[in-house]
This record gives sequence, structure tokens and C-alpha cells, in this order.
Amino acid sequence: MAIKQVLKMGHPLLNRQADAISEFNTPLLKTLLTDMRDTMAALDGAGLAAPQIGVSLQVVIFGLEFNARYPDAEPVPQTVLINPTITAQSQQMAEDWEGCLSVPGMRGLVPRFTHIKYTGYTETGEWFDREVKDFHARVVQHEVDHLNGILYPQRMKDLQALGFEQDTFPPLKE
Ligand code: NI
Repeated sequence: MAIKQVLKMGHPLLNRQADAISEFNTPLLKTLLTDMRDTMAALDGAGLAAPQIGVSLQVVIFGLEFNARYPDAEPVPQTVLINPTITAQSQQMAEDWEGCLSVPGMRGLVPRFTHIKYTGYTETGEWFDREVKDFHARVVQHEVDHLNGILYPQRMKDLQALGFEQDTFPPLKE
């Protein structure tokens, strides 16, 4: 069990392009994934990118069965995604509220593509691709943005739609 500290907005590592993974099945990658899973579970997150725990590598994890932070969200399979690419399948975008463990206590209204294809590698180095929509597509775009040094406020069209949870939303149930 290794719950890591999550870097917060303003830390320069969160603004950096992460490096690709070149070797799979290494102790480094295994430890990184264990730390990421433990940290995400402890903080009740829907996703986490390696740079958020201070490791500038192209690794994200995400997945959601039921999560008190996102009570209305559709389920997303537990996924490890390494060296990802995203291709929009249509130009249609939709806005919805997002939160981020690196921007604690806040939510913002963020436009995202509603239909994407994404590709990448599993933790054992197998390539895969998926075509997904809506909330699943939103989660992937949010997490992959972390690998490109982008936090969700940078995607917002109107910063008036950025606010603290207790003012913008009813209190979260834990
Ligand atoms: Ni985030």
C-alpha cells in the first residue's frame, strides 16, 4: 500500500509533456501502477495520471463502478492506458461538470468530444483500441490531457463556470 501525495495545480510537473513508456513488465511500471491504484482508491477518484503523483510518464488509470463523487455517471471499465492516442470520431462536443484530484474542492464545466476512439497499451504491453462515447469519452480526454500538461480549467470556455463544490453543487455524499 502506497498512497502518494497528489500534486496540485501550479506544480510545474503538471504542465509538462510526459514521456512515453518504452519497456513493459518492469518493476518501475509495476510499482507505479500499484501506487496509482492505491492513491486513486484512497481518494475516491475516477481516474489518475502518473504526472499527478510526480512521475512524468504516459500512464493513466481510470474506471468507475459507482463513485460518490460522480453519482450519476455511467460505469466505465477499470482500465490501464499507456502511451495513448485519441481521435475524435465527430466534431460534436458537449459540456459537463468535471473535477480533478489536482484541483481539489472545485468543479468546472468543460467541453469535450462526445465520441472518440482511443488507442494505447495495457500494462503488459498489448495494444488495444476502443470506440467510446459520452462519460467514458470525457474521462479519457481528461486523463490524457494530464499527459500533455493540460488541466481541465485550461479547456473551459467560461471561467465563471468554475467553482467550489459547496457553492456550485450540493455537498458530496461519502
Ligand atoms: Ni485530473
